[in-house]
Amino acid sequence: MRVNIGQIKDMKEKGERIAMLTAYDYSTAKIVDEAGVPLILVGDSLGMVVLGYETPIPVTMEVMLHHCKAVVRGTSRALIVGDMPFMTYHISMEEALRNAARFIQEAGCQSVKLEGGVTVADKVMRMVQCGIPVMGHIGLTPQSVNQLGGWRVQGKTPEAASRLLKDALALEEAGAFAVVLEQVPTPLATLISKKLTIPTIGIGAGNGCDGQVLVIHDVFGLSDRVPKLAKKYASIGETMKQAVTQYYNEVKHGDFPTEANSFTMDESLLAELKN
Ligand code: KIV
Repeated sequence: MRVNIGQIKDMKEKGERIAMLTAYDYSTAKIVDEAGVPLILVGDSLGMVVLGYETPIPVTMEVMLHHCKAVVRGTSRALIVGDMPFMTYHISMEEALRNAARFIQEAGCQSVKLEGGVTVADKVMRMVQCGIPVMGHIGLTPQSVNQLGGWRVQGKTPEAASRLLKDALALEEAGAFAVVLEQVPTPLATLISKKLTIPTIGIGAGNGCDGQVLVIHDVFGLSDRVPKLAKKYASIGETMKQAVTQYYNEVKHGDFPTEANSFTMDESLLAELKN
């Protein structure tokens, strides 16, 4: 049985910390699921870490659905959150609902995530009324990086801080089951976490949030540069490079494949073919 949104909300009530990680493909999702992480986000960060774009803006619905399906196939336990791409939930209510439904119906996700607070609360409410669990995302919202003027910490002025609090409350009121707080000063994120009854999941928002999320490429040590808000838990990139270099050298020198990696055939058949 997969984790459900009720269990995620209960974790906050019980004071249990919630871990979420991103995954974008079958085999990585399988590792995260087997490790027992209850929430997997198929983030539009895949635009950067998998596809090499500078922002998540070029990521489309079709790309997201393609990756979500792979993640769903690789998991049996975690609750999968599909990230709604740039401008797929702004144009109209109808379009927002149709796109959110595709994550659930076509890709097999159990929930969607979208960026924004007060301005998207009506969409969140309708999605929830239609049976689609929604995770909110406020603070540094990467899809608005051009509007925000860069990747910087949000909520640092009294007005901005009070806007963030209002956004968080609007999402809770609209029925979101959790809210991501990205790049928010620790005291503000802690205050928001205390004010909300639904869990906050922080990234660059300090240790006072109810849970944490990281991009798996940062955790594995696969990113070009690990940002301050993240932690590298392994150096898989180095290990991969060593493996590729060894393979390359073995092929060049004729050391791979050996008999152990090869197949034999009936000698008499071979003799017949030679004749
Ligand atoms: O796209 C993503 O990976 C995200 C997380 C960083 C929260 O939105």
